[in-house]
Amino acid sequence: MVCLGNICRSPLAEGILQQKVNDKGLMVEVDSCGTANYHVGEHPDPRSIKKAKQHGIDISRLHARQFSKDDFANFNLILAMDKYNLADVLSLSETKEEQAKVKLVLDFSIPGKNKSVPDPYYGDDSDFEHVFQLLDQAADVLINQYFDEK
Ligand code: 4NP
Repeated sequence: MVCLGNICRSPLAEGILQQKVNDKGLMVEVDSCGTANYHVGEHPDPRSIKKAKQHGIDISRLHARQFSKDDFANFNLILAMDKYNLADVLSLSETKEEQAKVKLVLDFSIPGKNKSVPDPYYGDDSDFEHVFQLLDQAADVLINQYFDEK
């Protein structure tokens, strides 16, 4: 799960998908990172921690890290929150195989529309709730369609 800072959207996405993976007993490694390095080492934004907690998920111990080219080899799927993160990750790719791993996360729940998860950094609680709901729906489809078939 990839966003810009790895403190608002992608840690929520990681926590949501991790919980669904755990609930299904799947052996899937879930991680998140940011395309930028501004917040490396920091815990998620307190508003994301609070939003996850309201939905029964603890993301308070996560630490931000920056996307690395190694992630192309280490992960089968690289899901970007928005079109800028998508373009930034794709700009670091070197092969068609690497490019094929990269998708917009909302392609799962809202296919074919190129929808982005809006950046809630300058928003309020309702923006974080909207982000949570978008990611929860995408993770539900992802886990049913993708992991059940593999
Ligand atoms: P995120 O949100 O990409 O969802 O983690 C942001 C976090 C920090 C900044 C922007 C967006 N920032 O400009 O520092």
